Amino acid sequence: MSEKKIEKVGVLGAGLMGSGIVHVCAQAGYQVVAREVEERYWKKAFDRIGGFMQKSVEKEKMTAADRDAAISRMSGTTDLADLAGCDIVIEAVVEDIEVKNEMFGELDELCPPHTIFASNTSSLTIVEMAAATSRPDRVVGLHFFNPVPIMKLVEVVKAVTTSQATFERVWAFAESLGKIPIAAKDNSGFVVNLLLVPYLLGAVRALESGLATTEDIDKGMVHGCAHPMGPLTLLDFVGIDTTYRIAEIMFDEYKRPEYAAPPLLRKMHLAGYHGRKSGKGFYDYSGTEPKPSDLNI
Ligand code: CAA
Ligand code: NAD
Repeated sequence: MSEKKIEKVGVLGAGLMGSGIVHVCAQAGYQVVAREVEERYWKKAFDRIGGFMQKSVEKEKMTAADRDAAISRMSGTTDLADLAGCDIVIEAVVEDIEVKNEMFGELDELCPPHTIFASNTSSLTIVEMAAATSRPDRVVGLHFFNPVPIMKLVEVVKAVTTSQATFERVWAFAESLGKIPIAAKDNSGFVVNLLLVPYLLGAVRALESGLATTEDIDKGMVHGCAHPMGPLTLLDFVGIDTTYRIAEIMFDEYKRPEYAAPPLLRKMHLAGYHGRKSGKGFYDYSGTEPKPSDLNI
């Protein structure tokens, strides 16, 4: 089958990651259509993207004309059928295989055979999604990092079913967004999360066991290892709900203690302390400066 040039991109989910993916794709010149469950979610995401672009204009990193052109390339919808004309669909919905497979299953019926399905999953294996479609050779992992407009890395993941042609097209697509791709095997967590998740969970265990305070654990890694954020701040940034799901999936896959969700993470997830996006996680974001939350440890 002849390969069609990627011109139109579909994005499923416009949360933390989906909104960043919409942002970089529109900025790179692609037509982008984002699908959310409710109109207010994609509208909120588009307002946020507009705000970041406005800041770039004010700092003379972007012209007003380029901003207007990028915004004019973005559209939002709640109707999956509006993604039927996309050459690639990137899913960034919640870390739940059932939700992801339901989306790809419906799109499989709606999209032409050339459409590539890419997943931004942090911890699921791509083959689980590929096997649920009639185009397993065109299903691939495309794992961006948060915040998407700033982080250069993208992991490009070939499932056992992914064709070399799909892999190469998606690799070139990632480069066209100004990203630095790396090739990763289709193992849970790929390269980065295989290493990062035990570190983050270790920080939760350190706090839980009374080793040090929230602030001192973070200061330790910022000032001792020059990390831009300490691990507990980073957990709030990634999302406690998302990290809890990632830990559950990786532990289920590897059955290794370093991937097991610490009880504190589970309790915070259950309490709705999802981090920055909910206003409270390891830190409370209700004031002008984040303050360590009292978690009754
Ligand atoms: N979208 C667009 N621009 C953004 C942004 C966003 N979401 N967030 C920040 N920026 C921009 C800011 O506007 C600012 O731009 P200027 O330089 O033009 O002013 C720039 O980024 C720097 O931001 P700040 O000055 O506000 O803050 P900072 O210097 O403290 O940097 C940070 C913020 C880039 C997030 C930095 O703290 C950092 O690198 N943190 C670590 C992030 C990280 O580790 N990410 C990986 C998470 S794990 C993952 O993604 C994988 C997974 O599957 C879970
Ligand atoms: P998020 O909770 O911020 O956003 C998920 C969005 O998906 C929500 O806005 C929700 O309304 C939407 N959604 C749920 N069901 C949907 C459906 N059926 N159709 C369309 N939209 C739907 O989550 P996130 O942090 O953006 O994570 C999304 C994906 O990206 C997950 O697979 C996660 O593992 C992965 N990821 C997250 C990070 C991170 O730092 N948070 C980094 C890399 C990858």
